[in-house]
Amino acid sequence: VKIDGHLSYFLGAVGITGLTALLGVREKGHVTKGANQTMVVSGAAGACGSIAGQIGRLDGCVRVVGICGSDDKCRALVEDLGFSAAINYRQDDVCARLKECCPDGIDVYFDNVGGHISETVIAQMNKGSHVILCGQISQYNKDVPYPPPLSVETQNALQRNCITRERFLVLSYMHKAEAALCELSQWVKSGQIKVLETVVNGIENMGVAFCSMMKGGNVGKQIIKISD
Ligand SMILES: NC(=O)c1ccc[n+]([C@@H]2O[C@H](COP(=O)([O-])OP(=O)(O)OC[C@H]3O[C@@H](n4cnc5c(N)ncnc54)[C@H](OP(=O)(O)O)[C@@H]3O)[C@@H](O)[C@H]2O)c1
Ligand SMILES: *[C@@H]1O[C@H](CO)[C@@H](O)[C@H](O)[C@H]1NC(C)=O
Repeated sequence: VKIDGHLSYFLGAVGITGLTALLGVREKGHVTKGANQTMVVSGAAGACGSIAGQIGRLDGCVRVVGICGSDDKCRALVEDLGFSAAINYRQDDVCARLKECCPDGIDVYFDNVGGHISETVIAQMNKGSHVILCGQISQYNKDVPYPPPLSVETQNALQRNCITRERFLVLSYMHKAEAALCELSQWVKSGQIKVLETVVNGIENMGVAFCSMMKGGNVGKQIIKISD
């Protein structure tokens, strides 16, 4: 597998990030071609989210809606990555915008963030739908176990609507990595998956770049370039 001139892709779209997106969708998403499914992705302009949404579209969801933290990110999702719509959780009424963007409800939710964004999404999920529990970044600075507890109301919604929400850890599926990486590299080479990166120069800037990523300073994969 070669991605000409883009070594950094092996850390992202054709590396652990792409595997997380692809295997998360395949193992936990129950995406079915022809089933007219709507997918919502949180952390949608980040490394995993930006790939997961594109895979949702390629695997046959008729509608993919991203939630992220800025208007520039929303624009990139819709104009560059082919998302159907995007919601800025810092500015928009997420509940109202979800209703507008997902008129047939939500069938698959690729969750990177947790917290009240996720509670708002889950409240609009259809019967028999699926949460892909990829991550819960909004809770990582809190002293809570993983996965962090949901409100009673949200737990009831999951039960009442038979919504699955199983833990997903990419490292549990490494026996599927080789085939998945082939698929990802072909999609990237053919342009069916577009890759976004935010590059910072110098290993001395790694700490700053990490903190920036935790606060949404990145679009796509945060990369530190340490040499040519
Ligand atoms: N399950 C697995 O095996 C596995 C493997 C790898 C990663 N992950 C998980 O996948 C998720 C994404 O990781 P990544 O490496 O791809 O990072 P990333 O999405 O590229 O970067 C993190 C993004 O999270 C968003 N964010 C930060 N704080 C937030 C908050 N309080 N509420 C909402 N959004 C917030 C920021 O974007 P905004 O501008 O949109 O806020 C930021 O850009 C993480 O939860 C990570 O733990 C899971
Ligand atoms: C999906 O939508 C198409 C076009 O509206 C319709 O013909 C088809 O029956 C729908 N499929 C399902 C499984 O609902």
